[in-house]
Amino acid sequence: MNYLDAPELYLKGEVDPGNITWRSPSNIALIKYWGKYGQQLPQNPSLSFTLDQAFTETTLQYRLKPEPSNEISLNFTLEGAANPKFEARIKSYLTSITGAMPFLKQLELDFRSHNSFPHSVGIASSASGFSALALCLCSLEHALFGTLDDDEKFRQKASYLARLGSGSACRSINARLALWGKTGLVTGASNEYAIPIQEGIHPVFFTYHDAILIVHAEEKAVSSSTGHQLMEQHPFATVRYEEARRNLHRILEAMRRKEWDDFGRICEMEAMQLHALMMCSNPSYILMNPSTLKIINLVREFRRTTQHPVYFTLDAGPNLHLLYPDECAHEVENFIHSVLVTYCEQGKWIKDRVGQGPQQL
Ligand code: DP6
Repeated sequence: MNYLDAPELYLKGEVDPGNITWRSPSNIALIKYWGKYGQQLPQNPSLSFTLDQAFTETTLQYRLKPEPSNEISLNFTLEGAANPKFEARIKSYLTSITGAMPFLKQLELDFRSHNSFPHSVGIASSASGFSALALCLCSLEHALFGTLDDDEKFRQKASYLARLGSGSACRSINARLALWGKTGLVTGASNEYAIPIQEGIHPVFFTYHDAILIVHAEEKAVSSSTGHQLMEQHPFATVRYEEARRNLHRILEAMRRKEWDDFGRICEMEAMQLHALMMCSNPSYILMNPSTLKIINLVREFRRTTQHPVYFTLDAGPNLHLLYPDECAHEVENFIHSVLVTYCEQGKWIKDRVGQGPQQL
């Protein structure tokens, strides 16, 4: 599918001003995307839970430019304040997709974004942010040209465009469980966009909770983009990409058979491999901190003594995501309150769970 060349999407007459709002969630990868090539294409397939409580809400207001120009005309605010850093990133993103959406140059675009989670909790907002943005763009195309009527096509293009903004963002377009990356294991899987998967997955996994334990709230020291780049010369790259494929196969089997301990072991293995790759990159870096390790050991001990299937995963930072099914949520959350919050920055944690995907407001 090539969305990047669509000269027909060019406005010829008057356009009424309008606005569009989408709420789009963040996602947590179970099988990690770490390493990319070409135009933001993944070196291995990845799998994620779409979240519910951690989301971005973006409103796009548009009107025709009074005078035509070749530049993107953009205004961007986050939480009601100008944000030159994000504005510059979004401007260069929009400029990069004008082949796919030539009409963007004909409009004045005003984006207002709001995150449900405080900026200071160290949760990556690029997945929710770029997915909300891409959904607004697809709704805009639909409003102006009557295209993308079909829901599946709409989501596919939104996922494709979100991917070009930030790889992991393409998964957030889908409800519950999303797969991004070519694999023979699932029909329809693609490197260009993510697809939802549901068939054959045991329903218990859709009841899963994700407690996000905020161990350290600052922006991470090394960005994901740098991390992906370091994979290009990484001595373990080939082994890692093979291992991710094996883990995808294993986790899908475990999710079909309700083997939640196998499921959890694979999640932890994926988190540890991701951080091991960082530690032995050149240059090496470490994003876990002493509280991350402390919590890992406490969770493993809690699991041993209670037999509750609670496992952790990590994204590219020190914060932990605890994954557990609804039936032990009460006990796990008591444990978080009574023991784990001590190791969280200012006792902060976010009670999230598997969600139903983006919503137009
Ligand atoms: C560790 O999607 O943030 O969270 O494509 O450069 O924007 P870019 O990277 P990004 O990388 C996410 C890395 C990860 C794993 C994952 O979400 O699969």
